[in-house]
Amino acid sequence: MKLIEAKHYQDMSQKAARFIIEKVNRLPAPVLGLATGGTPLATYQCLREDHENNGTSYKHVYTVNLDEYVGVAPDDNNSYTYYMKKQLFDHIDIPPSHTHLPDGMAEDLEAECRRYESLIERLGGVDLQLLGLGLNGHIGFNEPGTPFSSETHTVELTDSTREANARYFDSLSSVPSQAVTMGISTIMRSKQILLLVSGAKKADILAKLLSEEPNEDTPASLLKMHQDVVIIADSDALSIVKERGITY
Ligand code: GLP
Repeated sequence: MKLIEAKHYQDMSQKAARFIIEKVNRLPAPVLGLATGGTPLATYQCLREDHENNGTSYKHVYTVNLDEYVGVAPDDNNSYTYYMKKQLFDHIDIPPSHTHLPDGMAEDLEAECRRYESLIERLGGVDLQLLGLGLNGHIGFNEPGTPFSSETHTVELTDSTREANARYFDSLSSVPSQAVTMGISTIMRSKQILLLVSGAKKADILAKLLSEEPNEDTPASLLKMHQDVVIIADSDALSIVKERGITY
């Protein structure tokens, strides 16, 4: 794993955006794996600004998102589909048919999970997977204990994840209890992974994932088994790593 230190959230976001833009400019048909949550918000803002100011084009880009809530319609403003449109897709020139998220409204969720895996395969796999980090070490919605071998599947969200995401909903009770997420094995098949970590709240879990041997109780620690992972973390997120002198 390669660790890039950023000064603060904005610096992390600019570095992440540059990383993505380099792929977009260099590859003939890049497949970007995208994430939601608070962490990548300013990265998407940098991509929007770069598109507007420098004309970076996304006509040749394909995207697959990590996850989507079950039972939340795409046009509901709490869906990840809505988030992606609002934060990125509606502001750049990517053809809507090139953008993909799991369908959390599918009647047959198992079939939907299989469809999503085949779709990623048909696209030729993910070139760059963007990831945020859950407070309990989850990646996508792969909660602690998710098997290394998991592919796209339906998950029951833990209370801590529902509480962490409640800020986007009217109340905790309206946070869905299930989601469809790429599995650990799906994520590990990406050619390259970019993990973004920001803020003092994430300092503990970042220290844990860097110091532990890969284990399924801290899903993000499994990323150590991938050959090309880049972490961009800001100084608040790195505070405990530095304090304890953790090397990895
Ligand atoms: C959510 C998302 C994850 C995200 C994580 C961290 O549960 N499903 O993909 O990485 O939370 O969120 P945040 O970036 O808001 O801290």
